[in-house]
Amino acid sequence: MSSEPAFDEDRAFDHQLPRRIRMKSGVHFTPIAVARCAARLLAPRPGMRVLDVGSGPGKFCVVAACEVPQATFAGVEIRPHLVHMARKLASRVGVQNVSFVHADAMDVDWSVYDAFYFYNPFAEQLHEEAFLLDRSMSVESSRFGEYVMAARQRLSAAAVGTRLVTYHSFGASAPPGYDFAESHTIGSDRLELWIKTRHICPCPVDAADG
Ligand SMILES: C[S@@+](CC[C@H](N)C(=O)[O-])C[C@H]1O[C@@H](n2cnc3c(N)ncnc32)[C@H](O)[C@@H]1O
Repeated sequence: MSSEPAFDEDRAFDHQLPRRIRMKSGVHFTPIAVARCAARLLAPRPGMRVLDVGSGPGKFCVVAACEVPQATFAGVEIRPHLVHMARKLASRVGVQNVSFVHADAMDVDWSVYDAFYFYNPFAEQLHEEAFLLDRSMSVESSRFGEYVMAARQRLSAAAVGTRLVTYHSFGASAPPGYDFAESHTIGSDRLELWIKTRHICPCPVDAADG
């Protein structure tokens, strides 16, 4: 079956991660075949800068950086120990065009990136304890909506031409101004590419309308 070699490849790659994190890979981290396809969709031109929103232990960024060496991939991750793991992984693989920052994704400047990758970074806010990557991040279901709203605002403010790739989506359609460009199905996984084609100004409330 065609899915078998990809599984083996993921298993070998995940072996570079500590066991407790490796065990979560199948659910929480992007498979290699998906990461390669996403990387090409995100960075079709040399010099493009891509942000992985919620980069975990760096699997997507490291695979993507190997796949498209003429682009740069940055990961922002809220769990500090995962940032540490990601930096170790990048140096073990020997890839240079990748970096990781420890921060809440809402606290970094999105305007310096040309493309954004989302693999459900905020989904843990909605789930039961068994789904959590670990217990180091506090979760609260009301925060999911706040994060999604804040991410949509940042994407809305991005430049025309900005690319957005979602893996299993982030629970909603892309923000206004983004057009669906293409989708790819890899096994049971679906990647979608959206491209910002126009700037949509938030309508100011006319004072005369009260
Ligand atoms: C589903 S994992 C995806 C990991 C990686 N992008 C990949 O595809 O392999 C989502 C990650 O987002 C991180 N995360 C959740 N909320 C975050 C936030 N507000 N800012 C930065 N990272 C966040 C989680 O800690 C987790 O590592």
